Amino acid sequence: MITSDEQQVRELMDSVGKKAAYQTMQIPEATLRDLAVKALARQPSRHLALKSMRRKLHQITAPYLGDPDYGQATHEMHALFQEGDPDAIQKFCRMIMASHVSTRERLLVLDGFYLRLFDEHGVPESIIDLACGLNPLSLRWMGLGKKARYRAYDIHAPRVAFLNAFFQMEGVAGQAFIQDILVNPPLHTADAAFLFKEAHRFEERETGCNRDLWRALKVKIIYVSLPPLSMTGRHDLTGKNRKLIERIIAGQSWRVNEINFPNEQVFVIEK
Ligand SMILES: C[S@@+](CC[C@H](N)C(=O)[O-])C[C@H]1O[C@@H](n2cnc3c(N)ncnc32)[C@H](O)[C@@H]1O
Repeated sequence: MITSDEQQVRELMDSVGKKAAYQTMQIPEATLRDLAVKALARQPSRHLALKSMRRKLHQITAPYLGDPDYGQATHEMHALFQEGDPDAIQKFCRMIMASHVSTRERLLVLDGFYLRLFDEHGVPESIIDLACGLNPLSLRWMGLGKKARYRAYDIHAPRVAFLNAFFQMEGVAGQAFIQDILVNPPLHTADAAFLFKEAHRFEERETGCNRDLWRALKVKIIYVSLPPLSMTGRHDLTGKNRKLIERIIAGQSWRVNEINFPNEQVFVIEK
């Protein structure tokens, strides 16, 4: 029997999720349900719950950060990998990464980015890339060993399908999953987790959610990055970012180190 609560949740999920853009992204049921349940619990009316859920889903999916045309990109990628010219493949990876703000900002420092990240703890043999976006396209810059295992998680289905095609063509032990990592934290063990440019946005979805996620991860090191400047470029966020990290890991005896790049403040957290 469907309870009236369940009916309200379902109605909200259908009403918000039916937007064409979300149908294309194939947002997981788990995400829609989580947002609907929480919006109904927190808002005084169905109308306000609907508004709140719409706003959150827009912020979570962030279409304004950009995307390539995945169909065309997959087609091009097939042709390039068949030709096998490594320079052309790297150029293509850079071009795809340039289509999303988070990876675009990293391009400037990509050549030395992972060298610095892995300097202290060594190159990981297994990685989970959380809320990965298009970051797995930087695999060729990571210097991973041949046997390295790479798992990537995102809620955007066409992006995940594209990443799986990429892993297959690269011939690496990589896999991308459509998974809301706040609802279902990854259970795979790994040497390292990446959580790039998303932790602050997670806090906007649900204050304190990073804490539970980071605790649940079965990894030795979490590389968390945050933007050092506001979107307008006018405000320095580095102090605020440090405080956020301190709050999230309060009560844990985890060691934190910081590495700074012009567009990215990375916290290396030893669990
Ligand atoms: C700001 S982008 C960052 C992408 C990547 N980490 C980077 O820095 O290049 C955020 C990404 O997280 C994904 N995302 C947002 N919430 C998520 C969740 N709860 N679980 C998994 N992926 C999520 C979005 O679809 C998007 O691809």
